[in-house]
Amino acid sequence: MDNDQPIGVFDSGVGGLSIWREIHRLLPNESSVYLADSRNAPYGEKGKQAIIDLSVKNTELLLEKGCKLIVVACNTATTNAIDFLRINYNVPFIGIEPATKPAAIATSSKKIGILATKGTLASELFINTSSEFRGDIEIFETIGEGLVPIIESGNLSDAIPLLERYLLPMVEAGIDNIVLGCSHYPFLIEQIKNIVPSTTTIIDSGAAVAKQTKNMLEIHNLRSKNPDRQTQFYTNADVEILNFFLRQMSVTSFKSSYLKF
Ligand code: DGL
Repeated sequence: MDNDQPIGVFDSGVGGLSIWREIHRLLPNESSVYLADSRNAPYGEKGKQAIIDLSVKNTELLLEKGCKLIVVACNTATTNAIDFLRINYNVPFIGIEPATKPAAIATSSKKIGILATKGTLASELFINTSSEFRGDIEIFETIGEGLVPIIESGNLSDAIPLLERYLLPMVEAGIDNIVLGCSHYPFLIEQIKNIVPSTTTIIDSGAAVAKQTKNMLEIHNLRSKNPDRQTQFYTNADVEILNFFLRQMSVTSFKSSYLKF
């Protein structure tokens, strides 16, 4: 394996860009290939086998592109498919899961909220992880139904009524930490801040995933020293939507293209 080969990142669409951004920031010499499988979004409404099949398709494409490590930048794909991927492919995988533990540690009210997809909240991995904390704290889970398609459309303010419907009952129940358990939701952070009290801590997992990616590269001796890294973004839907999010993240020079996958 050549250390200058790229890191592969995939998600059901543009959401995983919130994870890619943290990796790109923390690891300035690493090239990357990002796949936005927007044509098949939302994954969160699909069954486990369909999510595994889509994750396999994305993994194989990233391996064809020569990726040395794969970041599954999607909670739904991680919680349903990462065990299968780790067993069947010989590259390191990093996943993303709702940050239940940090919220459980931080809460004073002993009540936390988790906003995630149906697929994530129904997964065995999530149920097992969250059950570790349920004795001490109350966990309020809410499915963010309809949010991913709105984010994929780029019309972020359309999400406000749904966010109010999902977040306000948890706030009224007394949560002091809200976990964004879907990599799309950080793109709604401004809208969320306007809905929840300023004392509510909003937690997402992007920075933790970037740190874990760095550790994993070090463990496998895969760090690159390339001073001229390359980043390529692919979408199987509207490239203009992908570019809109990249510009929103102040990524100025990038290569993005449509690819059928
Ligand atoms: N970004 C995915 C996640 O983190 C998206 C979910 C979806 O496609 O429903 O769960």
